Amino acid sequence: MIDSKPVIAANWKMYKTPQEGYQFARQLATKALNLKGVKFILAPSATAIFHLAEVLKDTPIEMAGQNMHFAEEGAFTGETSASMLQASGCTWVIIGHSERRHVFGESDDFIRQKVAAALQAGLNVIMCIGERLEDREAHRTQGVLQQQLRDGLEGLDEYPAERLVIAYEPVWAIGTGVVASPQQAGDAHGQVRAILNQRFPGLADADVKILYGGSVKSANAAELISTPGIDGFLIGGASLDVNEYCSIAEIAQNEVQVTN
Ligand code: PGA
Repeated sequence: MIDSKPVIAANWKMYKTPQEGYQFARQLATKALNLKGVKFILAPSATAIFHLAEVLKDTPIEMAGQNMHFAEEGAFTGETSASMLQASGCTWVIIGHSERRHVFGESDDFIRQKVAAALQAGLNVIMCIGERLEDREAHRTQGVLQQQLRDGLEGLDEYPAERLVIAYEPVWAIGTGVVASPQQAGDAHGQVRAILNQRFPGLADADVKILYGGSVKSANAAELISTPGIDGFLIGGASLDVNEYCSIAEIAQNEVQVTN
């Protein structure tokens, strides 16, 4: 990341038409004027990216793809390349979201190829990792995080750390309303940092931000963002409402100012 502001990233998943997104983006652009202490990243569906990027082009709000293919172009029906995302206005891409892993069966190796292609093309990457409930209950959380980081980032630590953000999203907390406790999230973030330190010394310094994702909302944002090791949020459901999304941003802005 360019600076130390908390990242408040919105993952809209398969919600909002370009028209619905337009209303949101107009309001966000205005509200963001009072929220300069956070970094906004907006990941709409692919059909809305170009339109919203035009709306937000004179603002500090950056656009992200929710997914991409590692090939530059080719016969890959339904896929989007890094250069297509960039030409549509994206500077970021989310890779390895748990829905891509568990609904669409993406492997760590496939994810690594995408992370590599995105970084190579000049996109910044939010790479998602996280354990399922059965992993947590079997005390395998650390092992899962280790494997996802190791396999997803293998050979990529020559890239500058600020080009990469890790989003820790426990699968059991995504879209369920069950949020990780500050203790659980803080422990996992500490483990992620330790794994990066050990396996990827090139990425090890504090420039790699680690976001928390999974049922974040304004009611739980303060205690999470004030937990050491949590550098921002990747927000699904609560990012669909511009007021709720900006409330979370405001809480993060205030808490980080207070703790600095
Ligand atoms: P949620 O989703 O905030 O709706 O739990 C988070 C995510 O999937 O990134």
